[in-house]
Amino acid sequence: MSEKKDDNLMEKIVSLCKRRGFVFPSSEIYGGFAAVYDYGNYGSELSKNIKNEWWKAMVQLREDIVGLDSGIVMSPRIWEASGHVSGFSDPLAECKNCHARLRVDHLLEDAGVFADEKMSEEEINELFKANLDKIKCPTCGKHDFSDARKFNLLVKSNLGNFTSNWDKDPVYLRGETCQGIYVNYKNVLNSARVKVPFGIAQIGKAFRNEITARQFIFRTREFEQMEMQYFVKPEQEMEEYEKLRQARWNYYLELGIKKENLKWHKHENLVFYAKEAYDIEYNFPFGFKELEGIHARGDYDLSQHGKFSGKNLSYVDPETNESYLPHIIESSVGVGRTMLAVLTDAYAEEAVDGEIRTVLKFPPRLAPIKVAIFPLLKNKPELVGKAHEIYDELKKNYMCEFDDSGNIGKRYRRQDEIGTPYCVTVDFESLEDEAVTVRDRDTMTQERIKIAELERYLENKLK
Ligand code: GAP
Repeated sequence: MSEKKDDNLMEKIVSLCKRRGFVFPSSEIYGGFAAVYDYGNYGSELSKNIKNEWWKAMVQLREDIVGLDSGIVMSPRIWEASGHVSGFSDPLAECKNCHARLRVDHLLEDAGVFADEKMSEEEINELFKANLDKIKCPTCGKHDFSDARKFNLLVKSNLGNFTSNWDKDPVYLRGETCQGIYVNYKNVLNSARVKVPFGIAQIGKAFRNEITARQFIFRTREFEQMEMQYFVKPEQEMEEYEKLRQARWNYYLELGIKKENLKWHKHENLVFYAKEAYDIEYNFPFGFKELEGIHARGDYDLSQHGKFSGKNLSYVDPETNESYLPHIIESSVGVGRTMLAVLTDAYAEEAVDGEIRTVLKFPPRLAPIKVAIFPLLKNKPELVGKAHEIYDELKKNYMCEFDDSGNIGKRYRRQDEIGTPYCVTVDFESLEDEAVTVRDRDTMTQERIKIAELERYLENKLK
């Protein structure tokens, strides 16, 4: 069980995200649409920056990993082979008092009892009943629940099927992006200059019929995953797994996430094919929870797809001619979940001159806007013109914002709230000395910098 941090923190983050255009609830003018969120102007920048950092670490800086962008809708057979059609389900019960819908495996977990995902409905209910005295409804505190029922998480759709009973023969929106990687593994081997060990990385949307989607963008029904599957020689699986675990831990530190907010969680109860599984957990406003999963999956994925497709997915070592089915180790993390971790890590309230300033202390690489440019006064054309000239230059290299509304203090507060690392002000002196004031978000110190040196100055700071 994870300890709670600060109930208000989550509310504050949700409210800031809406107010400042990071995250909007879906379909709001139609009364809302549960467990889907839309990213606004700053949210879409933040999410793009998160994906770029991941892609850089996983693909650009790695000789042994290549990218992929596979379809969201694929052959339904893929989801039969992967086990999702028969086994990808969550057990749901309803509180008879307040009618809250609850995940029974989560209720059991909070009571210190593990429920294997392979358990039948009957087995889950036995376990649920045996532990009922330890479990209460998190919404109303009562102990009176309906029986648990298992609900499949795959989202069904209809594509190219023009019969009236398409529901009997559906396609599925992918429940995880990695299946697109497994089924393209031979294509990549035959087209890219890779040999085992090598990896395939993909970023893309995934969909799950989550029963209890809550906690904002932590668990949603439509989300983006960043997944990398690494294909290794069977006897090297655990050695490569340890390397991947280390690389992923270091990645978060290099990204600027505070070390004290990260921890490892080892899975004690593994699915039958897994050799080892760890999560990197982040200290979200509601406690430590899974941010990323890193799993040693053995040959399960390729052997299932080999069996179901009838194709030989073995790898032939070009040097030794040895033939084998590679084992797979994976790293899998959600974009939205990373975004919530980044927002939580960055959120700060500080007392300044008797007032509280709210600031998002994003690492500069992740900040949606890198530099804001202000003329001191909006009704002085010479200041506005000069500030616009600077904006027009800087925007060629950075996401910038030009702002001439309200007093300077208010403009600083607004940029603090969206996490802009630097604000540049053009004042009357600038017209004389060709210099501007640069204000640092975190220290709030101000420096006078020559306009001719501004770009180099910012480049060094934002690196
Ligand atoms: N291919 C392995 C896989 O999909 P998972 O533990 O189900 O494993 C991996 O998901 C990661 O994807 C999670 O650690 C989380 O970051 C993200 N994720 C999973 N379900 C999610 C959801 N409903 N909403 C947001 N992110 C989710």
